[in-house]
Amino acid sequence: MKKGDLLELEITGYAFEGKGVAKIIKEVHSQEEDPKKFVVFVNGTYPGDKVIAQIGKVRKSYAEARVKEFLYKSELRTEPKCNYFGTCGGCQQQDLLYDYQLKFKEEQVKDIFERIGGLKNFVYLPIQRCNKEYYYRNKLEFSFERKRWLTESEIASMQEIKDKDFALGFHIPGLYDKVIDIDECFLQSELSNRILNFTRFFFKSRSISIYSTQNHEGFLRNLVIRQSEKTNDLMINLVTSEENERLFIEFTEALVYQIPEVTTVINNVNLKKAQVAVGDYEKVYFGPGYIHDYIGKRKFRISANSFFQTNTSQAEKLYNTAQEFAQFMGEEIVYDLYSGAGTIPIFISENVKQIYGFESVEPAIADARVNIEINNVKNFTPILADLNKSFLPVAEKLLLPKPDVLIADPPRSGMNPKTASDIINLKPEKVVYISCNPATQARDIKLLVDGGYQLLKVCPVDMFPHTYHIENVALLRIK
Ligand SMILES: C[S@@+](CC[C@H](N)C(=O)[O-])C[C@H]1O[C@@H](n2cnc3c(N)ncnc32)[C@H](O)[C@@H]1O
Repeated sequence: MKKGDLLELEITGYAFEGKGVAKIIKEVHSQEEDPKKFVVFVNGTYPGDKVIAQIGKVRKSYAEARVKEFLYKSELRTEPKCNYFGTCGGCQQQDLLYDYQLKFKEEQVKDIFERIGGLKNFVYLPIQRCNKEYYYRNKLEFSFERKRWLTESEIASMQEIKDKDFALGFHIPGLYDKVIDIDECFLQSELSNRILNFTRFFFKSRSISIYSTQNHEGFLRNLVIRQSEKTNDLMINLVTSEENERLFIEFTEALVYQIPEVTTVINNVNLKKAQVAVGDYEKVYFGPGYIHDYIGKRKFRISANSFFQTNTSQAEKLYNTAQEFAQFMGEEIVYDLYSGAGTIPIFISENVKQIYGFESVEPAIADARVNIEINNVKNFTPILADLNKSFLPVAEKLLLPKPDVLIADPPRSGMNPKTASDIINLKPEKVVYISCNPATQARDIKLLVDGGYQLLKVCPVDMFPHTYHIENVALLRIK
């Protein structure tokens, strides 16, 4: 089989990152003697689809293919809600019925745990669905770009396209210099769409320049909207390459006049070449410079650059699941690894004796300290520590008592193997492992199982409907 071959495929499974797994029905045009020995993954397909697909990347045991023609569309499909579906990379599975999104995510976690981790004999609890299928995010990050993605009809119209050099929206997957101009996104609120459109209008009508990664010139970089779910707080954070106080004052006044629901306006100034929506410093132009939101009954301060779970209601379910798994009795010493702004420690603080949080980002530690004050919590100590190194010397130096329960919620890359071996050396009775990447989670859990732990329970929580992202909680106990 080689690149360019056409095959007739029946999609029989759902695999990593939502790709359909295909059974080859017939070779339409291929040089390969026996194409059936390959597994073929097809983007944007679901079990039940029949397609003619063209082979792209070919590896030893598998190939990737793109749909050329649908012969039959699966019954599991639904009409996507968004006009940008298929071009914008945001909601890859909006055309799959939500019940099946959940079913496939659930099956995938089980498969990953069995296949990558070799893990068996654990209780597998059903995935927790998200009550809101749309408008569930409290944060959206848009990009400004000089090259606007042109639609097929625009290209086909053969007319001169006047405003192709100004876009505010989302990057096209895989094309980091092209942005699709979005005027309606169903992930945040209607209000968020109004802010997006007002911001575009304001800067486009004044011909304000957009930062370019090619020559590193231009002003506008990102628009970040953070909207509290449980309070009326609403933050607008505009990321630019330099300061322009006069323009910012004008923007802020016009924005607050048009959209009085806005409670704070911030300018993050990113002097770096890297395309990240985080500034080297920030200036507050309106309001306090932060917002508040609640997870359960606990109130948290969120600044422009702090990590906060992006689906507030599901974060509560996630933390409740972690808490139920731990079965606290009130006397436990708990270590929370990758503790961020201290949201998990503060959430569980009433039910344990003492918590120590380990986190490497200084502003997150600063946020944790503020959150301790707001919630009047006396039994949580945030500690600055880089978990790419052993944290045992830090714990020893501070004379910390050994933990009864350890919670870990690492980034997508999972734990450093040193962290897993630290846990094995410390021997907390229970480990609750939260992850947004079940593949690295299963890999790390295998290390813990080899080091004397038993995997007892697993429960996925759907934080991100219409995407293939999976959040998962696991409970281990020392044998
Ligand atoms: C998925 S977030 C979880 C945060 C928190 N548990 C929550 O629910 O909001 C992962 C956290 O790990 C932190 N982190 C990433 N790499 C780290 C490292 N090497 N050492 C310590 N913390 C790290 C990040 O700053 C982030 O706060």
